[in-house]
Amino acid sequence: MLDKVIEAAQIAGEIIKEGYRKNISIEYKTNLANLVTEIDKKSEEAIINFISKEFPGHSVLAEESGIKERDSEYKWIIDPLDGTTNFAHGLPIFSVSIAVQRSDEVICGVVYDVMREAIYSAEKGGGAFCNGRKLKVSLNDDLRKSLLVTGFPYNIDENPGHAIERFVIFLKNSRAVRRLGSAAIDLCYVAEGIFDGFWEVSLNPWDMAAGKLIVEEAGGVVTNFNNEPLDLAGKQILATNGKIHDKMLKLLNSV
Ligand code: IPD
Ligand code: CA
Ligand code: CA
Ligand code: CA
Repeated sequence: MLDKVIEAAQIAGEIIKEGYRKNISIEYKTNLANLVTEIDKKSEEAIINFISKEFPGHSVLAEESGIKERDSEYKWIIDPLDGTTNFAHGLPIFSVSIAVQRSDEVICGVVYDVMREAIYSAEKGGGAFCNGRKLKVSLNDDLRKSLLVTGFPYNIDENPGHAIERFVIFLKNSRAVRRLGSAAIDLCYVAEGIFDGFWEVSLNPWDMAAGKLIVEEAGGVVTNFNNEPLDLAGKQILATNGKIHDKMLKLLNSV
């Protein structure tokens, strides 16, 4: 199964590479900040065609075309291009994120960091890897020495989930906070021990599903802001090395 998920991500990655820095059509979804390009759509179409051929009975949830429910315990959760804003502006930080659930549990996840040609992957109980190299979260337990990462929703003008106040709090209580623009890559960098922690207030299942398993299989912890198991439909996510989890929870809940 994992090999097939990787194959699907690579097919999508080729489409994305081909479209990078080319004159492509861009549409707005909800406002001027929220873009979808023809490459997002082509990538998604290619992944869904692949699934229809290889696993015709499986259900699919994909960002641009929504849900195709079939009578199956398997469901693919797809972000065909995570980091569309970066892609549209030519910033080489974007990914393809694909997870497969069996009976509502994510059993495998792949994030393809396209321009670095880095394939992050995990299977439940089997560890997490990047291009075959085993991943391990960082050992840092001091929030003041932590490098954190976050992201902002497209409706940041409405400040959902106190996103702005929470950002300021972590700026003041960590070494630094980054904003890369691809939640799936943010999660992989937590798994790799580059970032010590990642939080975001308003994500969708396709942003989180694959990366969550990759962090957990690298020894990290992923919850909502109440320290409960992550609900993929629950919007909020906190993913850390485990050692700074409680400290981040405390600050997240101080707003
Ligand atoms: C976005 C990215 C970004 C995050 C946004 C997401 P998209 O996904 O993951 O890092 O901050 O909340 O919507 O739209 O580029 O697939
Ligand atoms: Ca999007
Ligand atoms: Ca996304
Ligand atoms: Ca996307």
